[in-house]
Amino acid sequence: MQPLSGKTIVLGVSGGIAAYKAAALTSKLTQAGASVYVMMTANAMRFVQPLTFQALSHQPVYTDVFEEPDPHVISHIDLADRADLIILAPATASLIGKLANGIADDMLTTTLLATKAPVMIAPAMNVNMYDHPAVVANMKRLESYGYRFIEPGVGLLACGWVGKGRLAEPEEIVAVVQEFFASAGQEKKAARDLAGKRVLITAGPTREKIDPVRYISNHSSGKMGYALAEAARDRGAEVILVSGPTALPRPGGVEFVAVESVQEMYDEVVTRYPTCDIVIKAAAVSDYRPVNRHEHKLKKTDGLLQLELEKAPDILQALGQQKTSQYLVGFAAETREVIKYARDKLIRKKADMIVANDVLAEGAGMGTDTNIVTLVTETEDIALPIMSKRDVADRIFDAILHHLSLGLVDEGK
Ligand code: PMT
Repeated sequence: MQPLSGKTIVLGVSGGIAAYKAAALTSKLTQAGASVYVMMTANAMRFVQPLTFQALSHQPVYTDVFEEPDPHVISHIDLADRADLIILAPATASLIGKLANGIADDMLTTTLLATKAPVMIAPAMNVNMYDHPAVVANMKRLESYGYRFIEPGVGLLACGWVGKGRLAEPEEIVAVVQEFFASAGQEKKAARDLAGKRVLITAGPTREKIDPVRYISNHSSGKMGYALAEAARDRGAEVILVSGPTALPRPGGVEFVAVESVQEMYDEVVTRYPTCDIVIKAAAVSDYRPVNRHEHKLKKTDGLLQLELEKAPDILQALGQQKTSQYLVGFAAETREVIKYARDKLIRKKADMIVANDVLAEGAGMGTDTNIVTLVTETEDIALPIMSKRDVADRIFDAILHHLSLGLVDEGK
């Protein structure tokens, strides 16, 4: 997986000659797997064309707060909410001054005031401007608000002066960004907030044999379920991973149970269920199976071949019925009316949460490294932006722990 895969980064470009370096930065962040949304100030556009950034990021470039291409969202709020990180590169003295004083008069500055995402500021300006007491005070104030700075380099500046003020090189900024996301992941791991919990995860597809060489299955890769198992393990849980056939390496530090058919998965899960605290059914389980499994390979004949299918056991539903104190999570793989069907599954299968994904959406569903999910519970729907399956897994556990702390598990509903 690419190091920034699933991350949404807003890159704010303000009007300095170093704006040209922001193009290389956009390219490197995109190549590292991030979804990069560039916002430009009016003066930035005097140095570089928005089209340059659009071509490099494969995303629209935002320049005008009053231009709303998508009527369903307000762009600056939408991006402020979706961003995992905002980078200001180059950040001019003017942009730093506006931000330090709460001024929001264009697309970039309104987004900056609206966001809760971490913000990294990479200043670039003339050495005397950088040393000016007003700029120094503004940077100090922003630091005290929690903004992070990527120090400019020392050298010959475009204005002819030699000194501090050169925008950090794109490679340096990318390294800081990667380090930032890696250490955020480490913090989560260090939390060990699932210690003492026994967590069972199902992953991958099931296979229903037709004859010795053929079976009914689906495209699940197991990535979502394995990411959940790894997240639970890293957060201190005792983990059982019941997995259908996948091509993924077995995660270390978990009890691994290999299964093929729905019946095998049913047996392994139901036996362990009474001793589990949290069960998450990410596996793509067959709803139907052949009534007869042919002992020998079916021979080609003229005309139609009729395959008789019967309903396979519904594992999630059985767990809902046998529930005592477990927190039960199902997934819903839908292609239309996603939330409606997910809510229906929540009630029908007596689950505490359904993780709904539209498996036709780009970047979501089977085989991808990312997913786009909505966490559906009795009281709310939490729609998450596109993110890596590992981040989705952590968000699911964050939500479960939050519910458990509020005592929101319905015992044997
Ligand atoms: O494995 P990946 O490539 O990473 O893809 C991830 C995923 C798309 C498979 C995953 O995100 C997902 O959506 N998993 C659930 C797929 C599915 O079977 O959805 P469903 O809507 O058909 O079933 C609803 C729930 O009932 C699921 O939790 C399923 O595990 C469970 N079920 C379904 C049928 C059955 N016979 N028994 C079950 O327990």
